[in-house]
Amino acid sequence: MDKIIIEGGRPLHGEIFVSGAKNAALPLIAATLLCPGEHTLYNVPDLKDIRTILVLLETLGITYHYPEPHTLVINSDHVEGYEASYDLVKTMRASVLVLGPLLARLGRARVSLPGGCAIGARPINFHMQGLQKLGAQLELEAGYVDASVKGRLQGNTIYFDFPSVTGTENMLMAASLAQGKTIIKNAAKEPEIGNLIDMLTAMGAKIDGRGGDILVIEGVAELKPAATTIIADRIETGTYIAAVGAAGGELTLRNCNPAHLPSFLEKMRAVGIFIEEKDTVLVAGRSGPIKSVDIKTMPYPGFPTDLQAQIMALMTCTNGLSVIDETIFENRFMHVAELQRMGADIRVEGGRAIVAGTGMLTGAQVMATDLRASASLVVAGVAAQGVTTISRVYHLDRGYERLDEKLRQVGAKIWREKE
Ligand code: EPZ
Repeated sequence: MDKIIIEGGRPLHGEIFVSGAKNAALPLIAATLLCPGEHTLYNVPDLKDIRTILVLLETLGITYHYPEPHTLVINSDHVEGYEASYDLVKTMRASVLVLGPLLARLGRARVSLPGGCAIGARPINFHMQGLQKLGAQLELEAGYVDASVKGRLQGNTIYFDFPSVTGTENMLMAASLAQGKTIIKNAAKEPEIGNLIDMLTAMGAKIDGRGGDILVIEGVAELKPAATTIIADRIETGTYIAAVGAAGGELTLRNCNPAHLPSFLEKMRAVGIFIEEKDTVLVAGRSGPIKSVDIKTMPYPGFPTDLQAQIMALMTCTNGLSVIDETIFENRFMHVAELQRMGADIRVEGGRAIVAGTGMLTGAQVMATDLRASASLVVAGVAAQGVTTISRVYHLDRGYERLDEKLRQVGAKIWREKE
């Protein structure tokens, strides 16, 4: 296992190229199961989670190759397998995204329940209820969801109690090949959903309501392969903005999409970070003091839960009080204890964290617990005085392409060593 070492207190200057979005690439790779043929995906990020879902799809019968870096060609002519094993699903719960496409294509899917993770129980009841509404028979047996349907899935109206991101994605993929019309109400509106809708539409699916919370899908008998570009990773973009806010300096972020971070950018401006948006380029910088702000995570277009940990690290560098409400996941404060080791003054009460900014953190040995918690420790480390050592950085490598290398290129003193 690797560890990352950071000598903090150095401002960041230069440009960073943002990679494709992990949370778009995962559903779009799963969607290649929907029909045979050669599917092409551009701007695919080089991440552990991408390698994991490709291993899973290989067990189902697909083959793939990268004709050039970040361009992925998947051949899904021979999809005979329909089981996603516990060994694979337990390492990445997004494996649940094969449930909808396998049911739609093969009429059968046997997917391990993902089990919990560091940030919460992560049930998939919305996915199961939705697929049952489309006519699937589901049984829970020995930790697996065993789903089947005779003939085609049947269109229906699905109402989500909560706008589940992967729940919406699973329903979109399943409904694309169902008989008749499906209406999804209270659908998630994250940009990654729009990226999936664009791919499915290019494959021949008939989907109305893109960008809204009511999606209408007219099922078709078959789809055809397409070529799609993965959108920029808005969470990676936000992570670098938090880093330059904490460390000071100025960064130019390229290949990003500022329009996908509406509430986050406004909050960062309120913190005192200078932000200029120009199409696919975003310039962010901080020279003066930063101010504390209150945060409440919400479904898109609200403040993203995937940036909560990173902004908490930033708030510890202010001299004010910041109230952070995490409303999406029940246990997404694993980074608090690690930040406290760096001198942060944070009090947690249920889903609320109260940060009393101390103006400055001190380097320490800390441990990554989950993907975004590890990113928050990097943000804290580049700002802290002294040396921070982050262990278990395999969490980081699941969702960030060469984060330490990209930060080193803009002046951070950051490197990897074997644990
Ligand atoms: C997606 O997870 C993202 N993952 C998460 O990013 C992100 O934090 C989350 O959406 C919220 O934006 C991918 O896209 C691969 P949800 P997902 O279904 O779909 C509850 C990262 O760091 N819920 O929108 O699993 C659930 O427990 C990851 O990149 C049910 O109760 O999230 C949670 O409290 C972390 N039953 C809330 O809804 C269900 O059937 C939101 O979950 C499904 C979800």
